[in-house]
Amino acid sequence: MARRPMMAANWKMNKLLREARDYVEQLLPLIEGSEGVDVAIFAPFTCLPEVVRMTRDTPVVAGAQNFYYEDSGAFTGEVSAPMLLDVGAGAVIVGHSERREIFGETDALVAHKTVRAISAGLLPVVCVGETKEERDAGKMWDKVSAQVRAVFEQLDASKISGEDVIFAYEPVWAIGTGETATPEDAQDAIGRIRDLLGEISGEEFAGEVCILYGGSIKPENVDDIMAQRDVDGGLVGGASLEAESFAELVNGAAKGG
Ligand code: PGA
Repeated sequence: MARRPMMAANWKMNKLLREARDYVEQLLPLIEGSEGVDVAIFAPFTCLPEVVRMTRDTPVVAGAQNFYYEDSGAFTGEVSAPMLLDVGAGAVIVGHSERREIFGETDALVAHKTVRAISAGLLPVVCVGETKEERDAGKMWDKVSAQVRAVFEQLDASKISGEDVIFAYEPVWAIGTGETATPEDAQDAIGRIRDLLGEISGEEFAGEVCILYGGSIKPENVDDIMAQRDVDGGLVGGASLEAESFAELVNGAAKGG
């Protein structure tokens, strides 16, 4: 049951190679003392091999922001799990709300990708979360629980351990808006996700799964969010783009929030 805290940078569609190099070079010495925290950088495909190379002998995991579940073939513009493994990626974000909302990814597609990531040996960070309209209509849990259940329509939890998958609760209205969920809202949703995982896959599995919060995390609010019982870490967009502010978040998580 000893879940480790995690801080993950989601660079989204940002950074040229040179900027990625400068960032990693600056970040590594700043987070040297944060052994207790798992750190990941989800880089654009173009920077990924370089981030892998620069983080090779460090605790930082380099990951991708997306992939397609087929291994090869006529899927113009897509990148497969074997391709990610080939460049040394260790993790991948699956079903980010920007993928769901802008690129039309369905629950079924997200589930299929989750299954493939795990079978390939990539750690998937599966994102779920409601829109503002859904929250205002009192439908947060309808939406989030349906997204979580959909994953397990294709994923057989009895064949994996809770450490093989990460969930991220990212309310869409809090992403990139500066409007953060209150720590209590984050705990409420994440606690319910963990309970649901327990129902679906058993208490042991639910106790092992790392569940992150994402949505306008910054150095000023990270401590309160990390202090919540079921919140194991953060998936950070805007505040991860500067090495110094991401290092502050990593070091904050290392202190136990
Ligand atoms: P944000 O993005 O920190 O900029 O809100 C989080 C995310 O989309 O993962």
